[in-house]
Amino acid sequence: MTQKQQSMITTVQQHILQQQANFPDATGTFSWLLSGITLAGKMIEAKIRSAGLTDILGAYGNTNVQGEQQQKLDVYANRAMEHCLGLRDSVAALVSEEDDEPVVYNRDGETGKYIIVFDPLDGSSNIDVNVNVGTIFSVFKRPQWGDVNSSVLQPGSKQVAAGYVLYGPSTILVYTTGSGVHGFTLDPTIGAFVLSWENMKMPEAGPYYSVNEAYLEESAPVYTQFVHDMRSGKIGPKHGSRYIGSLVADFHRTLLKGGIFFYPPTEKTPLGKLRLMYEANPLAFIAEQAGGAATNGTDRILDIQPEGIHQRTALAIGSKTEVEALRSMLKG
Ligand code: AHG
Ligand code: MN
Ligand code: MN
Repeated sequence: MTQKQQSMITTVQQHILQQQANFPDATGTFSWLLSGITLAGKMIEAKIRSAGLTDILGAYGNTNVQGEQQQKLDVYANRAMEHCLGLRDSVAALVSEEDDEPVVYNRDGETGKYIIVFDPLDGSSNIDVNVNVGTIFSVFKRPQWGDVNSSVLQPGSKQVAAGYVLYGPSTILVYTTGSGVHGFTLDPTIGAFVLSWENMKMPEAGPYYSVNEAYLEESAPVYTQFVHDMRSGKIGPKHGSRYIGSLVADFHRTLLKGGIFFYPPTEKTPLGKLRLMYEANPLAFIAEQAGGAATNGTDRILDIQPEGIHQRTALAIGSKTEVEALRSMLKG
């Protein structure tokens, strides 16, 4: 790479420092915190790259608090996130899909300023078939007073940052601190996430809808009508269908191309399948920052006051056209 090209790159750490204006009281603390996530992302990426060569595929043999079979990579990703973030003394607590309770660090309010909520590996069912998986994270400030546990349950509107690492043909990091959405590509030759897309904007509408059609009959008939209306071009363009089965990958495609991803309440999951705090909230923050929308069908995702760290929610997220159309159909 020529000297000029070399000087052209912006790493995610540099970008965060440029964004530091949003964190007047976080003298570089936040970029140090984010470097814990990027380090964990590189560790997880390395494991995924060599999955077929090492004993990291398949079930770990435990069932997690979700009642799901933990995959070995779920456990590895969780340990990587806890190791890399736990070492940052600005972390007051970690909340993970894979842990029953928050991991609380004994740090005073001045030092331990942040609470990080994460899905260490999203799309676990796709690990063994070499399809995109990801890590999703959400960052809250710890309120000055009160014990940490009670300050974990904050609505998504209080997030100070959110993002994801998507492990696919390339490994990318997308994040927002409330000043737009920015995307980085891991450059393996220098081991850094390098700026690829600044101020990402979600298209107004179409061309895909994304839902697990196998469960549509288990949901309210209005969802089947909604799919018909999208296929026929009654809502935006005539939509095609895409469903990867990894939320983070289905969302990333929706962010880039437009359209809607939705996981409605079903007989098996009457409250929705996806988790509010570490799947819906962070992606809803990104969607809104990119000009899109996210709802549980009636309410704005970011307005929902969580009752529990593993609370589930219905989710419809993507371009405003489709999300608003679904919401008005559900209103009747
Ligand atoms: P996780 O692997 O973290 O448990 O998340 C899986 C989620 C989400 O990634 C995906 O959108 C959804 O499960 C797929 O659910 P179905 O297999 O029921 O379609
Ligand atoms: Mn997940
Ligand atoms: Mn997961």
